[in-house]
Amino acid sequence: MRKPILAGNWKMNGTNPELPRFFESLVQNLPANWSEDVEVIFALPYTLLQQANVLCKSSPITIASQNINQYESGAYTGEISAAMLKDIGVTTTLIGHSERRQYYAETDESVSEKVRVCLEQGIRPIACVGETKDERESGVTEDVVARQVTAILAGVKDLANLVIAYEPVWAIGTGLTASDEQANQVHSFIRDLVAKKFNDEQAQNLRILYGGSAKPANIDGLLKQEHIDGGLVGGASLKADDFSRMINAAVELYGR
Ligand code: 13P
Repeated sequence: MRKPILAGNWKMNGTNPELPRFFESLVQNLPANWSEDVEVIFALPYTLLQQANVLCKSSPITIASQNINQYESGAYTGEISAAMLKDIGVTTTLIGHSERRQYYAETDESVSEKVRVCLEQGIRPIACVGETKDERESGVTEDVVARQVTAILAGVKDLANLVIAYEPVWAIGTGLTASDEQANQVHSFIRDLVAKKFNDEQAQNLRILYGGSAKPANIDGLLKQEHIDGGLVGGASLKADDFSRMINAAVELYGR
């Protein structure tokens, strides 16, 4: 069985003074041993990573970044390398989020390169894919997702340290969620693509998260889908209460 992941993506939100209270109230609302059933990750702005890692040191919560630069070091003003993240104990990162593709000229090529660098450096990438509203409406969702997934897999030799997140762009921050079936269909399509490049068994072990207006009210239905192995959650991960409800839903569903 694939262990589900609930990952919060805080995007450009949050300051250090808020962190202690946030994690305290999050954990307060979780059952003992929750981490046996669910993995919890927070992808935070760079400025919060160090304190968050200290605060979560004795808890199973993983702290992640939202991006890395693909180069080792040098004249790349404003950028952060894989080695710099490892330097502060961060070993998971989002790669290729649609907001980075949309606003910061991230391409399939740069995403591919970043995934390769992450895996080489022992950083676990959560690589994001997803179609825009226009692409969905013109019936090219699978073409777009196939192109993005192929680029991600190009530099992957071993799937063990990779997570993929399917985030339809039209569902991000809009309150529109893909229906459970719509999301599951794309997840299943992604798993098939992975099976073709690797093999069935490895593809069955890959965790594929759904993102796009996931919240306490809809997480249950999404998690019940065969190919949905958790959520990448924006807005609802900023509220400890909402996010702990989502973790609890996953514990209920997956708990032994
Ligand atoms: P929302 O949950 O706010 O729609 O954001 C989803 C997302 O982009 C997570 O990476």
